[in-house]
Amino acid sequence: MIPLRGCTCLKAVTVAGAFVCCALTSLDDAQAQTTDFFPGDPVAGRRIFVERDCAQCHSIWGNGGTLGPDFATVGAGRSLQQLAGLFWNHTPRMIDTVRDRGFEWPQFTEEELTDIISYIYYVKLFDEVGDPDLGERWFREKRCAECHSVGGQGGRRGRPLDEYARYIAPIALAQGMWNHGPTMQAVQATTGVPMPTFLGRELADIQAYLRRASSMRDRQVALLPPPDPNRGMRFFSVKGCTACHGPRGRGTSFGPDLRQATQRLRVSEIAGQLWNHSARMVAAMRRRGIAFPRFENTEMADVIAFLYYLRFYETGGDVKKGEQLYVQKGCTSCHATDGTPSVGPDLSRAESVLTPLGLATAMWDHAPAMYDLTQVQRVEWPVFEGDEMQDLSVYLHSLASNRAAAEAGNAGPDD
Ligand code: HEC
Ligand code: HEC
Ligand code: HEC
Ligand code: HEC
Repeated sequence: MIPLRGCTCLKAVTVAGAFVCCALTSLDDAQAQTTDFFPGDPVAGRRIFVERDCAQCHSIWGNGGTLGPDFATVGAGRSLQQLAGLFWNHTPRMIDTVRDRGFEWPQFTEEELTDIISYIYYVKLFDEVGDPDLGERWFREKRCAECHSVGGQGGRRGRPLDEYARYIAPIALAQGMWNHGPTMQAVQATTGVPMPTFLGRELADIQAYLRRASSMRDRQVALLPPPDPNRGMRFFSVKGCTACHGPRGRGTSFGPDLRQATQRLRVSEIAGQLWNHSARMVAAMRRRGIAFPRFENTEMADVIAFLYYLRFYETGGDVKKGEQLYVQKGCTSCHATDGTPSVGPDLSRAESVLTPLGLATAMWDHAPAMYDLTQVQRVEWPVFEGDEMQDLSVYLHSLASNRAAAEAGNAGPDD
C-alpha cells in the first residue's frame, strides 16, 4: 500500500467539499517549498478567500455563499491571464451586490490577486466524486472483477482492492495501477483479458464504487497532501516523461504537446489518460533500455497537477492588438496617453500596469470608481475575452518603455 499522510475531516458538508477543505487545511505544511515556475500560492489564496469574505457569496463545490458563482466551475481550462479578465468582466454586478449587502470592495495587491487566481484555478483540480453505480458497471465491464475482489467478491489473480477505499480521489488507485502496470499487463496477456482503458471520468466512478463496495469497516478518509505543480514539473523530468513530451510538456516527435491534451481535464481524466498509454510507454521504454518509472507518495498527483497547470501561465501577447483594444474598449475616453488632461490617470505613466496581473489588480482596485463614471458617462463596461487582457498589458508596457526611452533621450547627458 502506498504510504500517504492522512487527515480526518470532521464537519464535512459534502464528500467532495470535505476533500477540498481537508486538502487545504493540510496545505500549509506542504507549502514549505518555493514556487519556481507557476506563480501564485493557492494556500495564501485560500486564506484570502476566507478572510476577505469571498465565501459569503461564493462557494467551492457547493460550500459557501450562493450569490456569486461557485469557484469550482470557474477555473478550469483558463490561463492566469484569462482568469484575470474574467475577474474584471463581472465586476459591475459584483459591485452592485457588494454595495447592496454593505460589504467593502475587496482590494488586492498584485501578489494577492495572483494567489487568489491560483487558488481558483487549483480548486478545480479536485474532482467531484464519481458515480458508484456507473463505477460498478465499469468494474464489471472492464473485467477488473475477474482478477480483483472488493468486499470479498471477485477474482483472485490480483490483490483485493479494498484498501483503496480509504481515498476519495482516484489518484492513489491510478498510481497503484500504474506501478503494477507491467505485471498486470503480462497477466492480462496470458489470460486473454484485454487491457482496460478509461474514458472521461470512469476512473473516478470506479473509485466511488470501491468506496461503497469495500468491506472496510473503518471508513476514515485518507487524504493526499495537496499536489504541487512545481514539484510535479521536476518529477515529470525525473520519471522520463520529458524524453517524449519535452521539458515543459511542449511535445517532441515522440510524444504530443500536452498543453492542449490536458486542457479542461480533471484529475481522474488525466489519470485515465496516463494509464491508457502506459502499455505503449512500457514497450517504448523497454526498446530503449529505460526502466519503467514508478511513482510513490504524492508523485503522481504532483505530475498531474503539473499537467493541469500547464495552461495556467501563458506568456506572449500582441502589442498591435493591444493598441486596437485600448481604443475599442473605450479606455481612450477616460485615459489619454499623450499628456492631454483626462478623467483617469495616464496609463503610460502607471507603474502598476506593466504586467498583466498588475494591470488586472489596478483595474480591480479602481473598479468601483470606474464603474460610477461609466454610469454617469453612459460608457459601456469593457469586457475582456481570451487573451485580450494580456494584449492590453503588453501594449501599455510598450507605451511605458517608449516614453522612458524618449525621456532618456530628451533629458541629456547631464541629467
Ligand atoms: C456580496 C457578494 C460577493 C462577494 C463578497 C464577492 N463576490 Fe465575487 N461575485 C459576486 C456576484 C454576484 C458575481 C456574479 C457577477 C456576474 O454574474 O456578472 C461575482 C462574480 C465573481 C467572479 C467572476 C466569476 C465568473 O464565473 O465569471 C469572480 C472571479 C469573483 N466574483 C471573485 C470574488 C472574490 C475573489 C471575492 C472575495 C475577495 C468575491 N468575489 C467576493 C458577488 C460577490
Ligand atoms: C487479467 C487480470 C487483471 C485485470 C483484468 C485487472 N487487473 Fe489489476 N492487477 C492484476 C494483477 C495480477 C496485479 C498485481 C500486479 C503485481 O503484483 O505487480 C494487479 C494490480 C492492480 C493494482 C495494484 C494493487 C496493489 O497491490 O496496490 C490496482 C490498483 C489494480 N490492479 C486495479 C485494477 C482495476 C481498477 C482494473 C480494471 C479497470 C484492473 N486492475 C484489472 C490483474 C488484473
Ligand atoms: C516513449 C514515449 C513516451 C513517454 C516516455 C511518455 N509518453 Fe505520454 N504519450 C506518448 C505518446 C506517443 C502519446 C499519444 C497517445 C498514445 O499514443 O498513447 C502520449 C500521451 C500522453 C498523454 C495524453 C495526451 C492525449 O493527447 O491524450 C498524457 C497525459 C501523457 N502522455 C503523459 C505522460 C507522462 C506524465 C509521462 C511520464 C510518466 C509520459 N507521458 C511519458 C509518449 C510518451
Ligand atoms: C469612464 C471612465 C473610464 C473608463 C472608460 C476607463 N477608466 Fe480606468 N480609470 C478611470 C478612473 C477615474 C480611474 C482612477 C480611479 C481611482 O483613482 O480610484 C481609473 C483607473 C484606472 C487604472 C489604475 C491606474 C493606476 O494608476 O493605478 C487602470 C489600470 C485603468 N483605469 C485601466 C483602464 C483600462 C485598461 C480601461 C479600458 C478597458 C479603462 N481603464 C477605462 C476611469 C475610466
